[in-house]
Amino acid sequence: MASPTHRLGNSDYTGMGKSPYQNKRSDALNYDLRNITTTTIVIRNPANRMLPPHEACSHWAAGHLPLKEGQRVLDIGGGTGITAAAVLERNPGVHVVSVEKNKAYVELARYKFNQRDGKKLLAELAGYPGDEQALLGAYFSQFRSNTKPVSCHVKFIVGDFTARKIKPGFDLAVANQSVHWIGVSETFEPLYPLLNNGGSFVWTTASHFVRADFDPDRYSMRYNDFTRKVLDILSKSPDFPHMNDLSTLSRPSNSVKSIQKLTEAKGFKTRHLKTELIYYDLSILIKDYIPVFVDSLIKARNPDFKPSPEQKEDIGRRVQDAVAQALQDRAALSDLNHKYDFVIIFESKKIG
Ligand SMILES: C[S@@+](CC[C@H](N)C(=O)[O-])C[C@H]1O[C@@H](n2cnc3c(N)ncnc32)[C@H](O)[C@@H]1O
Repeated sequence: MASPTHRLGNSDYTGMGKSPYQNKRSDALNYDLRNITTTTIVIRNPANRMLPPHEACSHWAAGHLPLKEGQRVLDIGGGTGITAAAVLERNPGVHVVSVEKNKAYVELARYKFNQRDGKKLLAELAGYPGDEQALLGAYFSQFRSNTKPVSCHVKFIVGDFTARKIKPGFDLAVANQSVHWIGVSETFEPLYPLLNNGGSFVWTTASHFVRADFDPDRYSMRYNDFTRKVLDILSKSPDFPHMNDLSTLSRPSNSVKSIQKLTEAKGFKTRHLKTELIYYDLSILIKDYIPVFVDSLIKARNPDFKPSPEQKEDIGRRVQDAVAQALQDRAALSDLNHKYDFVIIFESKKIG
């Protein structure tokens, strides 16, 4: 299901920088749409399930939280409520406070937890193609039905976590895929006074931020031979803008040790719990990632390049042609290792 509406933002997979998540209703809807159209496999208790990536990561994180009835759990960078739902599915007796800087994402989270009627969001959704409306409609309906019993156990707050507006007294904290956008020190410093002594913070991050267990050069879908083949075809195509090399894309800037050092300086003892693999199939690579990679590598080589709408269209068309050619190349298609993104899971305990 190709659609321009849920294309990834440019900075998503190009390494660190400004958070690509924007305060727009369409951005919040597209976040969920992208998530539900990318299924991964979770082989875990309580049951083996096929889950979209952000659900899977949130469940992995929630599974490491020692949740007990009545506890207060802080969810940092809570997005559209996916992490809060995973925590409450594990233990419906806890109370979650979810902090998210984008109002539009919080609006969607409140709708998904039956706290709002979502009229404005649904009006925005009415402008989407029919198949996307149907997918999101079914997803929201299931989500709302699942969260109805726990709706009063979660409070969504709009705010920048670093602004230190949250009241303290949390037993636990969780953050799924948000610490790398906020920054490690920028997250841990405001967290310290909010978490009770001995409290545990479980957080996940990605292979573009931390190197742990799996060598990105061997496994990461970023460095897939198929993508390399597409770039090779494009670079030989007449008048195509010059691009940086694929190997320059998104190198992890931290190791487990550097993370431990950074968090220790803020009063936390950090353990690397696990690295999970998220499987991506070729259609996701083609549809969502390759156009973004190409765009980013062109921009990296030509920072001042501002393509006109016609140039953008031409680049898009030539990327599609190159993908079509690369699909005929058996060697490029036989790269069996590079099909994963990694989810690195940490537990940071507040040192009392
Ligand atoms: C990858 S999303 C993860 C959302 C959610 N945890 C999930 O699993 O779907 C990262 C989120 O962090 C939020 N974020 C980034 N910087 C933030 C900040 N300083 N304060 C609060 N939220 C922030 C973004 O707006 C975005 O919604």
